[in-house]
Amino acid sequence: MRKKIIAGNWKLNKNRAEAAALAKSIVAMYRPEAGVEVVLCPVFTALESVRQAIDKSVVRLGAQDCYWEEQGAFTGEVSCSLLKDAGCDYVIIGHSERRQFFGENDLAINKKVQAALKQNITPIVCVGETLQEREADRVEEVVGTQLRVGLQSLSAEQLEKVVIAYEPVWAIGTGKTATPEQAQAVHAFIRKILTELSVPAAAEKIRIQYGGSVNPGNVKALMSQPDIDGALVGGASLKAESFIDLLHFQESARV
Ligand code: 13P
Repeated sequence: MRKKIIAGNWKLNKNRAEAAALAKSIVAMYRPEAGVEVVLCPVFTALESVRQAIDKSVVRLGAQDCYWEEQGAFTGEVSCSLLKDAGCDYVIIGHSERRQFFGENDLAINKKVQAALKQNITPIVCVGETLQEREADRVEEVVGTQLRVGLQSLSAEQLEKVVIAYEPVWAIGTGKTATPEQAQAVHAFIRKILTELSVPAAAEKIRIQYGGSVNPGNVKALMSQPDIDGALVGGASLKAESFIDLLHFQESARV
């Protein structure tokens, strides 16, 4: 059984005090018996505040990006060893906003994934198609390439440690969620590609999150799909109440 993993991607939101307050509320309200792995991904400058706020709780810390070199003349970058030093167990890699606004490509993503694994940080590797690509019936081609290149040269053992986040670009921040069936179809395809890239036993262990307008009203139906193993949440992770409702999806039918 794959343990569900729900991560809050706070994107470019929350200063240190706001981030610490939100993290403290989440720790106070989360019932660990819900059995969900919880990750909070604040901006770099708030990592330490959140680390302190979640100290000794089951909630884990993640960053929103990393660089593949360890150190040196790379102005503005943050390496995976520094993220480890800051208390991160996870790092989001290749988010569509980074691909779209910062020109990240699959080869760069691959280097970041390898660098994260080297530091024992779990990469959350984002893939997903644009609306145009979906309408042109290119979902499998696009997502397949993102996976094949983004995860190239990883061993089966390394691949097992990766988390994939399927985030259709057209569903991010738009209020348009993929239906559970649409999402499941792509998740099953992703697992098929992961099997090709590793071995069936490893592919079965890899968690695949869904992301894109996940909210307390749609999370349960999404999570009940066989290949959906969690969620990567933007907007609904910025308020403790809605994020907690998401984390407790198994207990309530709240809309
Ligand atoms: P929203 O949940 O705001 O649509 O954002 C999804 C996302 O991009 C998470 O990484």
